[in-house]
Amino acid sequence: MTRQQYCIANWKMNKTPSEGAKFVNNFKIKDLYNSQVKIILCPPYPTLISVKEELIGGIELGAQNVHFETKGAFTGEVSTSMLKDLSCVWVILGHSERRHVFLEEDEIIQKKLVRVLKDGLHPILCIGETLTERESGKTETVLESQLNSALDGVDSETSNLVIAYEPVWAIGTGRTASLDMIADAHKTVRRILSNLGFNGQEISVLYGGSVNPDNAEELNSIDEIDGFLIGGASLKEDSFYQIYRSFK
Ligand code: 13P
Repeated sequence: MTRQQYCIANWKMNKTPSEGAKFVNNFKIKDLYNSQVKIILCPPYPTLISVKEELIGGIELGAQNVHFETKGAFTGEVSTSMLKDLSCVWVILGHSERRHVFLEEDEIIQKKLVRVLKDGLHPILCIGETLTERESGKTETVLESQLNSALDGVDSETSNLVIAYEPVWAIGTGRTASLDMIADAHKTVRRILSNLGFNGQEISVLYGGSVNPDNAEELNSIDEIDGFLIGGASLKEDSFYQIYRSFK
């Protein structure tokens, strides 16, 4: 089974529009030789515009969030049509920072996911357990509950869905999950997807959490991993490119 591979930069709240444009200008002159790997940049909202202007074919644009309503009195929010107008193709949903810092609940994530798919964007759905949940043996229950809730009402035939397994305790901590832990979690995700009626073997499942140029090759040796969602190490052109080069 060959699944699509992804190398995705989540810049979080980093990079002004001019910094984003500079990144793309430096990055796009590199040899993006591997057509099997989709490169996606997810800048903060204002930076989407300048990044879009500098993009070349082979690099796609993603947003870090979106609202589930189409328009109206929702101060501070952004709609799917606004993102599509900027040639955005992807949207990160359910990121642990949205869940834990902004208290976004499963119900909201589900509404956003349904909206995103309905409007022809592709969700990158993030799931993952906290350290306490892992240490109390609840990883599988958490993943099951997050997938169950987020995918409620979603057509199981959809091919436009990417899952990112990001253990909360590995995000921004320099602490990567072990290869066995990741392989197990990814197998669990596929099993849950299949139980929900989706084709768990076909959906790409990415890993995120302290991925960097030093560990990317080893992580990429796990068959279960279909690519990465990268935070800190995606902020510099060279380290993001080195991670891209770890794909075989
Ligand atoms: P880090 O790569 O900085 O750990 O962040 C991971 C992440 O949250 C990507 O969405």
